Amino acid sequence: TTPDITLNSGTTIPQLGLGVWQATNDETEHAVRFAIDEAGYRHIDTAAAYGNEEGVGRALAGTSVPREDIFVTTKLWNSDQGYESALKAFDTSLAKLGTDYIDLYLIHWPLQDNDRLLRTWDALEKIAESGRAKAVGVCNFEPHHLQLLVDRGGLLPAVDQVELHPNLPQHAIRSAAAEHGIAVESWSPLGGTSNAGWGPNSKPNTLLTDPVIDRIADRHSKSAAQVLIRWHLQNGLIVIPKSVHDARIAQNIDVFDFELSDLDLSEIDTLDNGNRVGAHPDEMNIGAPS
Ligand code: A2P
Repeated sequence: TTPDITLNSGTTIPQLGLGVWQATNDETEHAVRFAIDEAGYRHIDTAAAYGNEEGVGRALAGTSVPREDIFVTTKLWNSDQGYESALKAFDTSLAKLGTDYIDLYLIHWPLQDNDRLLRTWDALEKIAESGRAKAVGVCNFEPHHLQLLVDRGGLLPAVDQVELHPNLPQHAIRSAAAEHGIAVESWSPLGGTSNAGWGPNSKPNTLLTDPVIDRIADRHSKSAAQVLIRWHLQNGLIVIPKSVHDARIAQNIDVFDFELSDLDLSEIDTLDNGNRVGAHPDEMNIGAPS
C-alpha cells in the first residue's frame, strides 16, 4: 500500500495520488470512483480551474470509503487571488466537492503581483487556522516565491506542487523546500498530458517512450509509467499521475512490488535537459486579477 508522508502541518498525505487535470466531470467521477473502490487510491488531486470538483464530489458521495480516509487536494484559481476573493473561492470549492473540509488547499500559481499574493496567503493562513483546510500550500513557487513567505513570517506552505519529472528534476526548488520543511509534489510526473506541451516555451515530451526508461522497464518487467512513478517515490516526492483509464489507474498504483536500483536511478537522472511541458511560473499570468 501507498506510504504516507508527514507534512509540516502535522497531517499525513499518501505519497501517491490520482490527478484529474483535463478530465470532464463524468470522466472524473468514474476515474475517482474506480481509483478509490477498485484500485486502492486514497489521495485525489483536483483544482477549481479543472472544472471537475463536482465530479470528485459525486465520487466522494458515492463511495463507501469514509471521507476521513481520503485525502483531497484542491487549488485556488488565479482570478480568485486576494484576501476576500480567496475566502469566497474556498467556500465554493467546498460546496462543489460536497465536503466540509479540504485536506490540502493550494495557491495554483504565484502570478506576478507579490502584494496580492501575500494577501492570498493571509487568507489561506486564516483557512488553516479555522481547520477547514488541514493543510495549505502552494504550486509553481520558485525559490524566490518561497522566500517571500519565509520573510513574511508566520505559516509556511506544507507543500510546493511543481512541474517535475526526469527532464525537469527541479533541484533548486527541492533544496529550497527542504530547507524549510516543505514537501514537494510532482505535477505532470509522466511528462504531461500533451506531447506538444502547453507553455510558451515548452518542448515536446517523450518520457513515456524514452529508450532509457524503456530499458529499465524491461529489466523489471514493468511499464515506463511505473518506472517513472518509482523514480518520484524513491526521490521522496509526492506524485499524482493522471489517467482516466481504469487499467492505467490500476497500473499506476501497482508500484510497490519492485524497486529501482541506484544504477536505474542514476540512468534516469541523465535525462535532465530542462525541458518543460508547461509554463515557467515567472511567465505565467493567465487569469490574473487586474
Ligand atoms: P490518460 O488519462 O488518457 O490515461 P501526467 O504526467 O500529467 O500525469 O500525464 C499523464 C498522461 O499520460 C495522461 O495524458 C494520461 O492519459 C497518460 N497516462 C497515464 N498513465 C499512463 C500509463 N500507465 N501508461 C501510458 N499513459 C498513461
